[in-house]
Amino acid sequence: MRGSRPAALCAIQIDHRGMADERDNWKKLAADSAVTQVTSGMIVGLGTGSTAEFVLLALARRIREGLRITGVATSEHTVARAGELGIPLTGLNGPIDIAIDGADEVTRGALHLIKGRGGALTREKIVAQAASRFLVVVDQTKMVDVLGTAPVPVEVVPFGWQATARRIEILGAKRQRRDFVTDNGNYILDCAFGLIDTPGSLAETLDHVAGVVEHGLFIGMSTEVHVGTSAGVKILKA
Ligand code: 5RP
Repeated sequence: MRGSRPAALCAIQIDHRGMADERDNWKKLAADSAVTQVTSGMIVGLGTGSTAEFVLLALARRIREGLRITGVATSEHTVARAGELGIPLTGLNGPIDIAIDGADEVTRGALHLIKGRGGALTREKIVAQAASRFLVVVDQTKMVDVLGTAPVPVEVVPFGWQATARRIEILGAKRQRRDFVTDNGNYILDCAFGLIDTPGSLAETLDHVAGVVEHGLFIGMSTEVHVGTSAGVKILKA
């Protein structure tokens, strides 16, 4: 029948929506769990992304109940959302008590991360580095044994970006430039390295490529990871 969708396609779409709802539940569980660690008077690093959005919502709820905190946002998007939700903000002028952010992949053992699918990785890493505690919030689908199923986002300066991209290709990556300019005025290259057995040494190598502003490998930075799962929240500590 013209205009109506085949039943099989409807079923697939309903399944996808159901999966998205379930993942959103897991994200919310993780966010709510991490936000219990926030207490009045803290300076709180605020992440970027769909899981970090649940953190903002939980913080806003607690602020309405009397919590007093000041946030440091990791992106202009988060600045805007914090404003809408009534979360007071400051710049990154000093130490941060706790930063809470999402991730694209988290290793089960060492809690290394790939971050930056939302393109905010540089500010996210600066905020995480300034924080006494860096809490990562993810749903169970983000947990991996080895990083690298997701590409590593790499922020590069626009000047000579093709030359920077070639240096990264020589390291073994297939790269794709996003049609996107970061809050810092730079480009993002999504770099697929395949499975990354030694993420620490890849991170160090990328640190030394001229033109690379920052990359999405967060090595040894997570203090704890709150994982939302079908069986509740699991808290993994470094
Ligand atoms: C943005 C990020 C995000 O935290 C990461 O991409 C996870 O996003 P989401 O919670 O939407 O899956 O690093 O730069």
